[in-house]
Amino acid sequence: MKDNKLISAIVVAAGKGTRMGTNIKKQFIMLDKKPIILYSINEFCKNDFIDEIVLVTSKEDISYCKDLIKEEGLKKRITIVEGGKTRQESVFCGLKSVSPNTDIVLVHDGARPFIKNLDLGKLIQEAIRYGSATFGVLSKDTIKIKNDSMEILETLDRSKLVAIQTPQAFEYKKLFLAHKEAQRKNYVGTDDTVLLDRCNITTKVVEGNYYNIKITTKEDLDFASIIKQKLQIN
Ligand code: CTP
Ligand code: MG
Repeated sequence: MKDNKLISAIVVAAGKGTRMGTNIKKQFIMLDKKPIILYSINEFCKNDFIDEIVLVTSKEDISYCKDLIKEEGLKKRITIVEGGKTRQESVFCGLKSVSPNTDIVLVHDGARPFIKNLDLGKLIQEAIRYGSATFGVLSKDTIKIKNDSMEILETLDRSKLVAIQTPQAFEYKKLFLAHKEAQRKNYVGTDDTVLLDRCNITTKVVEGNYYNIKITTKEDLDFASIIKQKLQIN
């Protein structure tokens, strides 16, 4: 399936974690014995589809991340680069730093540690077929549109909703061009698939799982320790 394609994974971890509100940035909070950021990096290292990893972080955290990676004794090629002001800018920094002959690029939030049982092969296969693929889960909640005064304006049809996660996977060239196009139009999105939507490229959703949470607020740390046990991650 992988053929001789070069597959790179970008892990973005240059955010400030304002919603978490802790002194230490959420991606570096210790979950049991390891900082959150190492969980997904370890999984990408174990996965045979992935040829190299680019970790994107803030300038002030680069040397700390280098030490973390070194201490972990990881075998795969891991490059650490500086990110930008928005997630989108950070992904772009990663895109400029992967091997120039990358065919497929995965983009992942460093704040999502639990990618253990996700079928990355399936995601990559769909990225080859569609140009763009993402993990997602059906929405359990009813989602509504509100105004700034918290008054409901509209109720969306739940059966049509999917909660989008990462990793997402793309044909490298398509994602690069989609970022360039977004920059030209001054558009900033909260994930990468929206940039492909805007270039009329359809994204295929691969069913993920509900354990793949994004650590965002303090209570997520409680959920995270339960999920870690459940998935038997050491
Ligand atoms: N991210 C990044 N560069 C930024 C902003 C975000 O690399 N300038 C990364 C975060 O580190 C995180 C992922 O993008 O792994 C998803 O972003 P989010 O959950 O919003 O994290 P933060 O932006 O750090 O949190 P908040 O929005 O609460 O400030
Ligand atoms: Mg953010």
